[in-house]
Amino acid sequence: MSAPVLQVESLAHGYGGEAVLDGVSFAVDAGEIVCLLGPSGCGKTTTLRLVAGLERPAAGQVVIAGETVTGPGRTVPPEQRRVSMMFQDYALFPHLRVRDNVAFGLNGVARRDQRRRVDDLLDKVGMAAYAGAYPHVLSGGQQQRVALARALAPEPYLVLLDEPFSGLDPELRGRVRDDSMHLLKVSGAATLFVTHNAEEAMMMADRVVVMQEGRVVQNGEPEEVYCEPASPFVATFLGEVNRFDGLVAGGRVETPLGSVAAPGFSDGAAVQVLVRPEAIRIGEPESAGAEARIDAVRMVGRSTLVHLTLAAAARGVYGPDAPDGVHLHVRSPGRIDAAEGEVRQLSLDGDQVFVFARE
Ligand SMILES: Nc1ncnc2c1ncn2[C@@H]1O[C@H](COP(=O)(O)OP(=O)(O)O)[C@@H](O)[C@H]1O
Ligand SMILES: [Mg+2]
Repeated sequence: MSAPVLQVESLAHGYGGEAVLDGVSFAVDAGEIVCLLGPSGCGKTTTLRLVAGLERPAAGQVVIAGETVTGPGRTVPPEQRRVSMMFQDYALFPHLRVRDNVAFGLNGVARRDQRRRVDDLLDKVGMAAYAGAYPHVLSGGQQQRVALARALAPEPYLVLLDEPFSGLDPELRGRVRDDSMHLLKVSGAATLFVTHNAEEAMMMADRVVVMQEGRVVQNGEPEEVYCEPASPFVATFLGEVNRFDGLVAGGRVETPLGSVAAPGFSDGAAVQVLVRPEAIRIGEPESAGAEARIDAVRMVGRSTLVHLTLAAAARGVYGPDAPDGVHLHVRSPGRIDAAEGEVRQLSLDGDQVFVFARE
């Protein structure tokens, strides 16, 4: 294994005495896309700025391609770090043609090599035909491709992207995100990008670093952070969950949908059971399982979202007004044969069920 392209070690930072980052550590390997994911204000942009050298941390180190660029008594200026940064407003220079936008960061490079590199990159991002065009004639997606080419032109060790797709409208966003992922992968650059959108992180990233209030709370592949969340916060931030509270007895906890294993908890422990909507199955009428009344069935594109109220606990109150923990969301791929007002039986698929101590 070669050394990571980026190593962030125990970064701490604050503004005006207010701690913003505390002990942030993670790494990005060559060719890898890593996403910093977390709610607004958790310190993602600050982390990027420290990596880029736009700011000095109160403590900790940043190592890029084996060189300590931020550390005790040492700061390498941003322009010497071989890091390219793309912000939310990836604004191209309006008065420069596409070709010159991409060539912008290539001052030290001989003219002929500049030309070759720019042509090669525009070809890679599928924008060769627009080399002579001005940015204003390009669509949002095309501008994003040129911005990416501009970021890659100086052959950076590392590309940093801060919420790069949030300015695009939803239809465009999916396609640009997909394009960018493939382009970054083909370029072989190490990429660190920031988003507060969990689905975006899972679509783009080889690895997701989840942050909460200035700390890293989990670091893993998308499947890992979604299917094996380290805390209720991670479980909830990565996707919707239904929640049941219960007490552990004999290594298990009873929920309205059946008994769930609670390994590692002692008898009497107060736990919360978090269940992804796709882990609940709607059975045939009259089958075994907990009875629930269907409040609403909504096809939402790729899946159907079913709202239910657990009949036993509802005591005649259905819908969102029913007591806590008895209004459920179930998600099924495609269409589902279920009608509002029907009473059906529910069962649990043990995967996608998480047990945590109650906070
Ligand atoms: N220049 C600044 N001065 C003072 N506070 C700041 C500054 N930049 C960010 N903060 C604060 O630091 C925290 C983290 O901000 P930021 O890193 O931008 O979070 P994120 O990118 O995850 O939304 C927030 O509480 C924010 O208000
Ligand atoms: Mg930010």
